[in-house]
Amino acid sequence: MCGIVGYVGKEQAAPILLDGLSKLEYRGYDSAGMAVYDGEKIVINKSTGRLKVLSELTHDGENMPGHIGIGHTRWATHGEPTETNAHPHFNESKTIAVVHNGIIENYLKLKNLLIERGYQFVSDTDTEVVAHLLDYYYKKYDKDPLTAVVKVIHRVEGSYALGIIFADYPDVVYSVRKDSPLIVGKAKEGNLIASDVPAVLKYTRDVYFIENEEIARLTEDTIEFFNVDGEPIQKQSKHIDWDINAAEKNGYEHFMLKEIYEQPKAVRDTISPRIKDGKIIIEELGMTDEEIRSIKKIHIVACGSAYHTGVTNKYIFEGLARIPVEVDLASEFRYRNPIFEEGALVIIISQSGETADSLAALRLAKEKGVKTLGIVNVVGSSIAREADKVMYTWAGPEIAVATTKAYSCQLVAQYLLALKFAQVRGQITDEQLKEYLHEIEMLPNQIEILLGNKERIQKFANRYVAAKDVFFIGRGIDYAISLEGSLKLKEISYIHSEAYAAGELKHGTISLIEDGTLVTAVVTQEELYKKTISNIVEVKTRGAYVLAVTNDDNLDIEKTADSVIYIPKTNAYFTNSLAIIPLQLFAYYVSVGKGLDVDKPRNLAKSVTVE
Ligand code: G6P
Repeated sequence: MCGIVGYVGKEQAAPILLDGLSKLEYRGYDSAGMAVYDGEKIVINKSTGRLKVLSELTHDGENMPGHIGIGHTRWATHGEPTETNAHPHFNESKTIAVVHNGIIENYLKLKNLLIERGYQFVSDTDTEVVAHLLDYYYKKYDKDPLTAVVKVIHRVEGSYALGIIFADYPDVVYSVRKDSPLIVGKAKEGNLIASDVPAVLKYTRDVYFIENEEIARLTEDTIEFFNVDGEPIQKQSKHIDWDINAAEKNGYEHFMLKEIYEQPKAVRDTISPRIKDGKIIIEELGMTDEEIRSIKKIHIVACGSAYHTGVTNKYIFEGLARIPVEVDLASEFRYRNPIFEEGALVIIISQSGETADSLAALRLAKEKGVKTLGIVNVVGSSIAREADKVMYTWAGPEIAVATTKAYSCQLVAQYLLALKFAQVRGQITDEQLKEYLHEIEMLPNQIEILLGNKERIQKFANRYVAAKDVFFIGRGIDYAISLEGSLKLKEISYIHSEAYAAGELKHGTISLIEDGTLVTAVVTQEELYKKTISNIVEVKTRGAYVLAVTNDDNLDIEKTADSVIYIPKTNAYFTNSLAIIPLQLFAYYVSVGKGLDVDKPRNLAKSVTVE
């Protein structure tokens, strides 16, 4: 994972690098560092811990003079999060500095070769190999930085986005990527590189998206691109018109709370452009009705919460469109030699569009000649660019590591897709479609109603800050909701939590229930209501305290559950969009109650660009 930035221009580099890194901290935050050329030599400052430690160390960058530099925020893969392992890394003579996002897979082999040639390593990172290898080729090829970069990328295997500066060329930043994201920003007062667009938005809205094995060479007023062999290539910049404020907290205590509250708008923005006069228009799908009718199977592939939206939508694609669906975790899918039949469609779901396993799954499907569709939030991200078709979720920038609004948008984007397929395939009538769409269009207001009830959930959450284990149970779509409710809680509160298909409880998990254990039962599927009530009784008999999340007409649940949260009535297929709201708030307030860093939970990162 990790985030990289670079700047060359008229302004002092370090404060700009720090500002850029602050927008990339979601990519990793266990250490950070900067390298700046101060007029005579390259100076590096780095520190463990959050970016603010580096800001303090450098007085917000003020005590690092110089107009060119590179920076890094780290999520450790190779080597513990120590100061030595933090980036940037130097060659031995401290004339080349490198920042890296990704993993050099053949680093051990290269390290041994370099050690044989007399190079000495100071860190445990794979990145240091790049610094020494650059040094080796730089010296070998007449001190030509571009040739050195070209030679290095022919030798390293794995994924990388690199930012490089050479003391001998104190006005040039080099950058190159393979399978890790990289953009170049063209600003008035200088040029920038970064792992992601928000890092440069303050300075420019004109960015170049760098493709695999493309090299960028930046000076204060020039930007050049080269291919893997060092030959010049032309690239077009894109204008980004995002709202810059979307990446700020706007008075909320945490990004997560702000993003929870942005859900009505995000869901509305995702659905409304696609519903016109009672019809679903998904132009970007680019599929004729004939093609939609010829789909024989859908593979939904994703990671984390995005995967959970697939688990929910399997029920909807199968139930409404009658298309068989397999849902896979991308990390499993890519190595299980999946069988693709004629008429298969692979849907990759990803907020960031950069998750390494999801991207690899997409490439696998493409290699096998299967049609691919990305449901992606970040415009211009790798999955968005590489999928045959892309349907964007319009959640806007999501900063908190634990996803909320992007998750909600992924859900509704798939509802629309499933309904579109159902209608084209003659599985539902126009009248039924209208009714379903009416329910979907009500969701944003219903989410607003649920958000109005936060105090009660906060009080309830405060009672559970010391909980050891929490269980979530449900059947069918309620099980899918439980998966996400449980993940939200564990990732930000560090409380052990498990989601279980309610009917499966008695095959093991029930032995973990003790006096007072909190069990959250999701009971929104009327057809399964009685079955889940039986499971609630089973856990209560073993001492559990049961919080039920159910539809607002199931009042008699109060006879069985200890506490109840009601959600407004919607169609059974769409209850996830409502039931998840109190569970997000619950996880949020438990984390706040424990005094944890809600937006940046330990050991996690928002965009997982390594396997
Ligand atoms: C990380 C994030 C999750 C996210 C998952 C998949 O684990 O913390 O919130 O669901 O990655 O990310 P993607 O960007 O592909 O949706």
